[in-house]
Amino acid sequence: MKRIGVLTSGGDAPGMNSAIRSVVRTAVYRNTEVIGFYNGFSGLLDGNYEEMTRRSVGDIIHRGGTVLRTARCREFETEEGREKAYKKIKELDIGGMVIIGGNGSLKGAKSLHDEFDVPVMGIPATIDNDLAMTDASIGFDTAMNTVLDALNKVRDTATSHERTFVVEIMGRDSGYLALYTGMCGGAESILIPEIEFRLDDVVNNCKAGFERGKLHNIIVVAEGAGKNLKNGGECEQNIGTIIGNHIRSELSVETRVTILGHLQRGGSPTAVDRIISTKMGAEAVDLLLDGKQKKMISYIGNSIVGVDLDEALKKEKNIDMDIYNLARILSL
Ligand code: F6P
Repeated sequence: MKRIGVLTSGGDAPGMNSAIRSVVRTAVYRNTEVIGFYNGFSGLLDGNYEEMTRRSVGDIIHRGGTVLRTARCREFETEEGREKAYKKIKELDIGGMVIIGGNGSLKGAKSLHDEFDVPVMGIPATIDNDLAMTDASIGFDTAMNTVLDALNKVRDTATSHERTFVVEIMGRDSGYLALYTGMCGGAESILIPEIEFRLDDVVNNCKAGFERGKLHNIIVVAEGAGKNLKNGGECEQNIGTIIGNHIRSELSVETRVTILGHLQRGGSPTAVDRIISTKMGAEAVDLLLDGKQKKMISYIGNSIVGVDLDEALKKEKNIDMDIYNLARILSL
């Protein structure tokens, strides 16, 4: 294979840059050229790209975001859009693509293969960590550390003022980030989109905590948890505020709501994210150049392996109920 393409797509995730660096340098080491497309699949459609060299990925290993920039490309969801993308791949004589991103992005990779026989490697990168068949996606560890740092700070002020804090964490459809950070941050309640809950249960949990002598209450809620609020009706937005208001009115305690928002997506990648993204980038190139066609590069039990992309996309990433139950027991 003379030339491969690489792009980042969907929500950015810390570690994308170290994955790009690894893809480019591994390919160059194996005498293969790399075309980097800007703004996700849009760059492929619009011909917005540049040839990448060892030097063009210098000084990026420690940077959050993605130097190739990213986007969610609606046009690529249409048949005409994908046709246009394939034409560009042919025109540039690209023998295979490395797609770095979350669920939607890897589905895009799959369609390039299924519809046009383009060899593809998907690298899972999303702070949501919602892709099946990999223990972690690039960015998850950094986002967890960012959230934990925030939770520690919230805890300081919550204790000083004896307040109840609701901390809203990213995750429209996935509670992974909220669950793990809630457990490691010692949250009293963890509310996620995958598990149904009632506002009154949250209130009772707070009350029981105060009765046991707790000085504060920290409730970690994923932004999409409102979907699973029992009898909640249309409650898909501002779930943190709804919970905070309900606790205040039921228990007459002081509540504050902190929405962490997009700061969770930025920041210098942690060592863990740099290690997995570096290994994933190299594995993606090695598999492509060794003739493999359609894989997701996974991190499983401390190893980096290529798994079947179709299978990975078909499977749901289930919430680890052992972790959920452990977090509940330890919060009592
Ligand atoms: O997929 C990652 C994610 O950060 C989700 O947790 C969040 O709901 C969404 O992206 C936010 O997307 P946007 O950056 O388009 O607002």
